[in-house]
Amino acid sequence: MAFETRELKEISPQALPKHIGIIMDGNGRWAKSRGLPRTAGHRQGAKVFSEIAKYCRDNGIRYLTVYAFSTENWSRPKSEVDAIMNLLAEYLSDVKKHEEENIRLCFLGEKDPLREDLRRQMMDIESRSAKNDGITVNIALNYGGRDEIVRAARRLAQECLDGKLSVQQITEESFSAHLDTSGQPDPDLIIRPSGEQRTSNFLPWQSTYAEYVFMNVLWPDFTAKDLDKAILEYLHRSRRFGGLDRQEKKS
Ligand code: FPP
Repeated sequence: MAFETRELKEISPQALPKHIGIIMDGNGRWAKSRGLPRTAGHRQGAKVFSEIAKYCRDNGIRYLTVYAFSTENWSRPKSEVDAIMNLLAEYLSDVKKHEEENIRLCFLGEKDPLREDLRRQMMDIESRSAKNDGITVNIALNYGGRDEIVRAARRLAQECLDGKLSVQQITEESFSAHLDTSGQPDPDLIIRPSGEQRTSNFLPWQSTYAEYVFMNVLWPDFTAKDLDKAILEYLHRSRRFGGLDRQEKKS
């Protein structure tokens, strides 16, 4: 589906954010306000995620990263954790659909603590969808930004111990290459719906220069129009990278 907002239909594709991150927040409140169980909010949230991913793909956004489950979310009741994992398994099980959708799926976060069937599905879909070039969608699952940085540091340390890398070769570039987002551009725009104004351990290394847009809508109510609003806000802000804005830097 093409952009719904007129100004965006006219914008040059290069001006659009290449990578958008979304903290999908407010599922519980959405459900509570309807007298429904929290899991109903997650179900609606998963549906919205699927629609927004296709909308991003159709409008030239190259990367989308969504926060589906944080390292801290294990402290929720088991029934809620299971429901979120089941929604993910359900989404991933439709392999044929993903082939038709031309979406490349990747996962950020540590896979080991996840249940075996989900891990297998995740690895399967990562390799099966690797050639899809409509958009890359990263699902952050058992993800924590600090945890990701620690895992990268451990890998670099091990490579130093193994003599594959010298300490001087630890640079911002080599560090980035050891993160879960290795090879991908950093997010330009991070959206957090639901009225909360926190970053909650979401892509701390990668979001150093990102624009944050906090919105009052709850994630299960989030629409294509809301995404348009966030992109317009991003376009209206002047972007500065240590003195030069992006246009100046490019020329
Ligand atoms: C935060 O809202 C949301 C989560 C912890 C889970 C997000 C998961 C999904 C949307 C489903 C994932 C499925 C796919 C296919 C990606 P909250 O529960 O903290 O809401 P609250 O702050 O209102 O309680």
